[in-house]
Amino acid sequence: MPLVVTIDGPSGAGKSTMAKRLAKALGWRYLDTGALYRALALMAFEAGISAEDGDALGRLAQSVAIRQDQAGRTWVGDRDVSDAIRTSHIGAMASPVSAHPPVRVALVDLQRRVAADGDLVCEGRDMGSVIFPNADLKVYLDALGAVRADRRYQELVARGEVVPLDTVRLQLDERDARDQGRAYAPLKRLPDQVYLDTSDLSQNQVLDALLGLVEDCRRRVASLQKNKNQGGSK
Ligand code: DC
Repeated sequence: MPLVVTIDGPSGAGKSTMAKRLAKALGWRYLDTGALYRALALMAFEAGISAEDGDALGRLAQSVAIRQDQAGRTWVGDRDVSDAIRTSHIGAMASPVSAHPPVRVALVDLQRRVAADGDLVCEGRDMGSVIFPNADLKVYLDALGAVRADRRYQELVARGEVVPLDTVRLQLDERDARDQGRAYAPLKRLPDQVYLDTSDLSQNQVLDALLGLVEDCRRRVASLQKNKNQGGSK
């Protein structure tokens, strides 16, 4: 059985960066589910569909072929949208777009199918709660609001987008409130998640912590398997 590690948490906690690095270090597959919602938001924006029109967005989600390749790039059909989905505008629009149940339902299979192909690190908001409730390891990655806003700000600056830090913080708070407050598949901390606050940690420290958790998880799964085999052979 492939192992599944879920990483959930608020915007700017470092989920994408760390999930990508963890998957690379382990040689596992990687799924950035925020990119799927961003890709849909981009398609909606270009088609003139409102972020409030759940039915039209659900139909759009059913009709477009969104996928992610193993280099971590996001595609809609044969168009690479990886860069276009990273603007602050599309990020802000992805939040209301992702709140509609028809949209989420349309993207469930796509997300679960990836785990059939091998060990997986995935990240988003509802990975541990809805998409992979039986995941082998569930992590909730967090950081102080100011730290998360600064990280997102640096990311945008590196992409050449100039947005004042205050605005980034405001948008981030607004987005997290919406992602946590929605009725369907909200972001929430679960009792079976390992909580990791990355505010004072470097990326290498976070990676080490995650690798340690995966190692523990592998041991636990192997020992459960051994007990099961022994039980079965009696
Ligand atoms: O992680 P991100 O910033 O790329 O995500 C963009 C938006 O997509 C985020 O505001 C909430 C939504 N999202 C979601 O609802 N569920 C997920 N599993 C991942 C992202």
